[in-house]
Amino acid sequence: MPLIAPSMLSADFLNLGRDIEMVNNSEADWFHLDVMDGRFVPNISYGMPIIAQMKKLGKKTFDVHLMIEEPERYLEDFKKAGADYLTVHYETGYHIHRTLTSIKALGMKAGLSINPHTPVSMVQDIIGEIDLLLIMSINPGFGGQKFLPLTYKKIREARDLINTAKAGTLIEIDGGVTLENAADIVSAGADVLVAGNTVFSAPDPAAMIKKLKEAIK
Ligand code: DX5
Ligand code: ZN
Repeated sequence: MPLIAPSMLSADFLNLGRDIEMVNNSEADWFHLDVMDGRFVPNISYGMPIIAQMKKLGKKTFDVHLMIEEPERYLEDFKKAGADYLTVHYETGYHIHRTLTSIKALGMKAGLSINPHTPVSMVQDIIGEIDLLLIMSINPGFGGQKFLPLTYKKIREARDLINTAKAGTLIEIDGGVTLENAADIVSAGADVLVAGNTVFSAPDPAAMIKKLKEAIK
């Protein structure tokens, strides 16, 4: 059964506790937490102290997506803050294999994300080290953007790669996921769908999560 990970970037930060409880009590599977540094992406979001606070209330898996330069400097900090999955971007590193190994040595699941311009083939030699392959379906930095159709081909390629390698990697899609495209994304081979704007701009976010789950089962 594919998973839904609401992106807390689109939550109401004046009512963050309420929105975390909404996710706790919903059919959502994970919390998706977007960390941005204003360098790797042209936006700044939140970091470890906020995630550590959220972890006190959040009852589901914490899926932390680092959109920051030199992520290898902060792996232990995010472990302490409560990350269960920690995802770094392929484009940020000279030594991604080492970074993935370090994430796992700290007791987290290791995620690797690729931007729209990065071919899936760039990760083929290290697929066995990747617990979560996050394929960006927008240019990272902001919620509420439109899904890039080139993503479908990349999902199919990733699925083939994972099957051929007999790897246990989950494929996660992030950006522009809607009630309209969710089923197609899952049919192409995705395991986890991030949804920010679709969930939090809905009049009833928990009902939207239920509808998304319904659409992909
Ligand atoms: C953007 C983030 C996403 C974002 C998705 O860089 O990685 O997680 O919150 O937002 P939506 O679902 O609104 O496209
Ligand atoms: Zn994200």
